[in-house]
Amino acid sequence: MKSLILVKNLTKIYGQPPNETRALDGVSFEIKKGEFVAIIGPSGSGKSTLMHILGCLDHPTSGQYFLESQNVANLDENQLASIRNENIGFVFQFFNLLPRTSALKNVQLPMVYSNTPRAKRQERAIELLEAVGLKDKLKSTPAQLSGGQQQRVAIARALVNNPLIIFADEPTGNLDTKSSYEIMDILKKLNKGGNTIIMITHEPDIAKLSKRVITIRDGKIISDKKNRK
Ligand SMILES: Nc1ncnc2c1ncn2[C@@H]1O[C@H](COP(=O)(O)OP(=O)(O)OP(=O)(O)O)[C@@H](O)[C@H]1O
Ligand SMILES: [Mg+2]
Repeated sequence: MKSLILVKNLTKIYGQPPNETRALDGVSFEIKKGEFVAIIGPSGSGKSTLMHILGCLDHPTSGQYFLESQNVANLDENQLASIRNENIGFVFQFFNLLPRTSALKNVQLPMVYSNTPRAKRQERAIELLEAVGLKDKLKSTPAQLSGGQQQRVAIARALVNNPLIIFADEPTGNLDTKSSYEIMDILKKLNKGGNTIIMITHEPDIAKLSKRVITIRDGKIISDKKNRK
């Protein structure tokens, strides 16, 4: 199968010498459509840096990045933004929901930017909130929801534009064990339905629930293994 993501020798250096940080140091791998990959590694190893580049939020300092065979490493900000809006859904550790806005409106937000008609936006948001088990919480604001429920709203929001890839940076990092496993069940279900998921975590037990684990340390890949089912 064709690769969805192909990176070759990705390097990211922050700052200027003598105070530079080599956050990624020659990273190469391939991810195919339908994979569920966990990226694991100690704090400061370069996980978020890698996700920002793969998610078209940032440029590598050098190296190549092909997303569906298109070379995206050297695109300008506007081009990256449009690739991101069309192809990528994000889920973050701290949910990043608008605080005084209902679940229903939070989920609709990316569709406001993509100019989807109001009635269609609402219909799609309800469908997705139902899919993550929040049918009876449509009108609730984040403050009225538990952490796990807020993360489910964030997952529904990540899905609205039918992204090619879902990126999740520590999606369970701020949740208790029970909610963490509920979120993982949802991600697993989405993956079974055909979604490609790339998730960052520092918890080995959470990484085990994915299909493939890439371990990075000091900006380098030190292992890349399939999980046994
Ligand atoms: N904007 C930045 N400017 C300068 N240095 C940065 C920047 N972002 C990250 N770094 C540095 O790059 C390295 C990798 O950081 P990164 O955030 O990718 O790590 P991480 O693996 O996500 O860590 P954590 O598990 O703590 O989230 C670290 O040394 C960090 O201090
Ligand atoms: Mg990080």
